[in-house]
Formats: sequence, structure tokens, C-alpha cells
Amino acid sequence: MARVLLIVGGGIAAYKSLELVRLLKKAGHEVTPVLTKGGEHFVTAMSLGTLAESQVHSSLWELKDEVEIGHIQLSRAADFVLVCPATADLLAKMAAGIADDLATTLLLATDKPVVVAPAMNVRMWLHAATRRNVQQLVADGVKVIEPAEGEMACGEHGPGRLPEPQDIVGWLEQNGFFGGK
Ligand SMILES: Cc1cc2nc3c(=O)[nH]c(=O)nc-3n(C[C@H](O)[C@H](O)[C@H](O)COP(=O)(O)O)c2cc1C
Repeated sequence: MARVLLIVGGGIAAYKSLELVRLLKKAGHEVTPVLTKGGEHFVTAMSLGTLAESQVHSSLWELKDEVEIGHIQLSRAADFVLVCPATADLLAKMAAGIADDLATTLLLATDKPVVVAPAMNVRMWLHAATRRNVQQLVADGVKVIEPAEGEMACGEHGPGRLPEPQDIVGWLEQNGFFGGK
């Protein structure tokens, strides 16, 4: 059983994070969701929290949350942090060390392994800035689940699709995130 801090970013693939939570829970893992302001446009805290059977955290400035479990503690209470979907914006902030909301602050404060599952339009994925940011994150020790290739929600074709939730679970398993390789 693993404890997963799941950060859901503001991309169209955020809907797949719901199925990911369902699969992780079914396999006996504990999921604590964090929804970014962008993510709130794509999935609701109600869906995420119900499937995770957990409170959903979304703001740095919730006094009740901060008193009950401070953001530093939240960033370390899991076995690993998974960002899924990881938007171009989140990757850029992570690479630059920006901490201007709950998700990015947790990512900077954590002492646990961090895995990102990027998903975005093919041009965004191939953009020099994103290439540079991903390279920086890899150098910083962040694990990257490579996006899949294919038809995108925007109608374009190429790399940038979020892999299917069962493939993400498979990747985590194969890479030892559920204990033992
Ligand atoms: C309909 C729509 C779909 C979007 N899909 C993506 C996406 O798949 N990947 C991405 O990186 N950004 C996407 N964006 C842009 C992000 O929502 C935007 O950069 C946002 O600031 C990211 O928020 P975050 O940092 O909370 O993830 C999309 C925007 C819209 C309006």
C-alpha cells in the first residue's frame, strides 16, 4: 500500500485523473488529492474527493487546513507525489522553483520522490521552453512518465497525450513506487 499525494493540474486530461484515483484506490492505495485553480476548471473537488475518499486540498490560504495539516507536513505525508496531468505551466513553475500556490509550494517543500505525467498539445510539448523545463526537471531528479502519441482533444496529432490511467498505474508499479521492483 502506498500513500500518494496526487496533484491535478489544469489540462483537458484532468478527467483521466478521476479514473486514476479509482484504480489506485481499488488496488488499496491511499490518495490525497490536490487540485490547482486551473484543475478546478476541468474536474470538481467533489468527484475527486469522493473517489479518493479524502479531503481535497486546493488553497494555501485555508486556515482550517493549515492548522489541521500544515502544507509542509502535507508535502511529506505521502510516499511520493504524482502530478497528473502535469500542464506546461506546472512544469515551468516546477523547473523554475516557483511556489505561488498550494501545489507548487508542496512540490518545492516535499522531501519525497516526485513523478510527473505531462499532457498538453503537441506544439506545447515540443516547444523549446517545455523541452528545457523537462530536461531541468529530469536533472533535478523528477521522474517523467512520457506522454503517449496520438489524436489529441484539440484535434491535432502527435506526442502530448496523457497515457491511459491503467498504463500510469503500470508505470508506477514497474518503477517500484508501490514498494519493491
Ligand atoms: C480547454 C483548455 C484545455 C487546456 N488543456 C491544456 C492541456 O492539456 N495541457 C496544458 O499544459 N495546458 C492546457 N491548457 C492551459 C492551462 O489550463 C493553463 O496553462 C493553466 O494556467 C494551467 O493551470 P495549472 O498550472 O493549474 O495546471 C488548457 C486550457 C484550456 C482553456
